[in-house]
Amino acid sequence: MYKAGFIGCGNMGGTLAAVAARSVGGSAVLTADHNAPKLAALEKEWGCAVGTPAQVAAESRLIFLGVKPQVMDRACEEIRPVLMKRKDHFVVVSMAAGMSSAAVSTLLGDAPVIRIMPNTPAAVGEGVILYCKGLGVSADDEELFLSLMKPAGICAKLPEEKIDMGSALTGCGPAFVCLLVEAMTDAGVRCGLPHDLAQSFSLQTFAGTAKLALKTQRDPAQLRAAVCSPAGSTIEGVAALEALGARHAMMEAVQAAYRRTVELGKGK
Ligand SMILES: NC(=O)c1ccc[n+]([C@@H]2O[C@H](COP(=O)([O-])OP(=O)(O)OC[C@H]3O[C@@H](n4cnc5c(N)ncnc54)[C@H](OP(=O)(O)O)[C@@H]3O)[C@@H](O)[C@H]2O)c1
Repeated sequence: MYKAGFIGCGNMGGTLAAVAARSVGGSAVLTADHNAPKLAALEKEWGCAVGTPAQVAAESRLIFLGVKPQVMDRACEEIRPVLMKRKDHFVVVSMAAGMSSAAVSTLLGDAPVIRIMPNTPAAVGEGVILYCKGLGVSADDEELFLSLMKPAGICAKLPEEKIDMGSALTGCGPAFVCLLVEAMTDAGVRCGLPHDLAQSFSLQTFAGTAKLALKTQRDPAQLRAAVCSPAGSTIEGVAALEALGARHAMMEAVQAAYRRTVELGKGK
């Protein structure tokens, strides 16, 4: 029996398969995907085993579904008869944006489901995985899930009704942050810096500021005030950001992502 199996090993499923391999070793992780090259990379780098979706469904203690929400129905239909034949205890882990644990469970003949919302920084141990437990998930299942996902970064338990809200922030957030890094890089180039320097300075400034706030536990508003000397250059920049609605733009972005997540999950 494999500790974890993955059906769909693309951007997110592949990232979490590597996380699980880091936790329990690749030989305890079984992977399946339509695309052989995605599996070859996991096999070569982490020593993961390769199989079919049916094998993953039959031979894994935790079964991660890493397929897009639009094809979840089909993927679940494929493995449902296999799961229904199982006499031992297993748990399905769904990362499908917007789909409730109850909806996934119903598609799988009432299988126990942990619903998660991971993000891409999990690949370097700096991710956030939001999760909630559906019916039939035991404390032991939760413990196994948490130990498997430990190398991803932070795992945070939320009531299910908050998962879509958190997802707009942490699941979509890496795209918002990258867009801000791109904008800051262009700004540096506009001032006269070469692109590669501007990009590495922007990235380090984002990473360093986040680390400072996390390590000192100081409020970002305080950290910002500490950089703004009276009548200095930083407060001029902050005034420009406020005048152009940077704060409101971010609020709208997260709200729009939340709206779309809810919309995608409707009827699922
Ligand atoms: N990307 C992110 O940042 C992110 C963040 C949080 C959550 N998620 C969630 O993660 C899930 C996967 O997203 P993704 O971006 O990783 O998608 P992706 O890169 O397209 O990966 C999905 C993979 O699953 C394969 N697949 C589809 N149906 C399959 C089946 N029945 N059996 C075996 N393999 C199958 C796909 O192959 P084909 O394309 O050839 O069918 C593809 O290689 C989604 O539910 C999404 O909501 C993603």
